[in-house]
Amino acid sequence: MDISHNLAIFLIMANGKDKKTTKNGNKKNGNTKKRNGTGVKNGSKLNEAATRQPTNSSAKNGASISELATQVGESKKTTTDSKKPIIELQHVNKSFEVGKSTIPVLKDINIKIYPREFIIILGPSGSGKSTLLNTLLGLEYPTSGKVIINKQDITELSPNKLAKFRYSVFGIVFQRADWVRSLNVIQNVAMPLAINNVGNKERMDIALSRLKEMGIDDHSNYMPAELSGGQQQKVSVARSLTGNPPILVADEPTGNLDTESAGKVMRFFRDLNERLEKTLLMVTHNIDYVSYATRTIYIRDGKIVEGSGSFKE
Ligand SMILES: Nc1ncnc2c1ncn2[C@@H]1O[C@H](COP(=O)(O)OP(=O)(O)OP(=O)(O)O)[C@@H](O)[C@H]1O
Ligand SMILES: [Mg+2]
Repeated sequence: MDISHNLAIFLIMANGKDKKTTKNGNKKNGNTKKRNGTGVKNGSKLNEAATRQPTNSSAKNGASISELATQVGESKKTTTDSKKPIIELQHVNKSFEVGKSTIPVLKDINIKIYPREFIIILGPSGSGKSTLLNTLLGLEYPTSGKVIINKQDITELSPNKLAKFRYSVFGIVFQRADWVRSLNVIQNVAMPLAINNVGNKERMDIALSRLKEMGIDDHSNYMPAELSGGQQQKVSVARSLTGNPPILVADEPTGNLDTESAGKVMRFFRDLNERLEKTLLMVTHNIDYVSYATRTIYIRDGKIVEGSGSFKE
């Protein structure tokens, strides 16, 4: 664990002794602007299927989801140049050393992702989806190639700068729970804000509203290990949004959820993408969710076989 992570845990445990605040205030921006489309073409069979479902305002939870998503983006919408990739991987290879063997997992990955896309990544188990996300998040260094996020080559950052950068740019829902075990649920949800020096009261208020949005605020004071898999997944989604990041990366965020809760999370994600113009990257095994995406990327045996984004060039 890096120093900024440890510092954040210390700040949370010190409970209110830090005084710094952030720009991430409570103003609503009333942003209801529709995406104008990034001219993304659908050049594949999978992408033909990836047509959005029309917004169903009478859908169960639909209206409240819009309101909640507005609250998540309450400080400001993301301002980015939609013509330039917000995420770019150039000739990325990633191998792991296991014993005396080198196992190649990612093979010459080239991807461009543009602001306000909602990307769904599909592929068989073991094909490298989580490794791909970990690499673009800077949690794994590529064996070769470049990872450029918001024009920054992240392999050039020191580990501590990278940790801060990661939490300011990305909200992350990991495939496996990664709680700080010494912290309770609300303290874990507040972590991304502590890393970026947001004052205690503000971060606890924001963390509580994120937990309310996911309908899990009644478990704020539990320890994460005391929650079911599905409850932990809801807390994980809440935590990914505390810092109001421009990009949300979610690795099978609905895997442990019942159909109704999963649908609610998907509609919530769509609203974040459409109304608040967040860029979303989500790995799933559920082909039904392709309809929420603006583009699908299909990965097999460590290679992108469809949807790399090269059609933008
Ligand atoms: N730290 C590691 N050390 C060695 N091998 C690894 C490591 N991380 C991943 N791998 C290997 O890389 C391959 C891809 O793993 P990855 O977790 O990216 O797959 P995935 O597509 O996310 O699968 P799933 O759908 O089951 O989550 C697997 O064969 C896995 O064993
Ligand atoms: Mg995985």
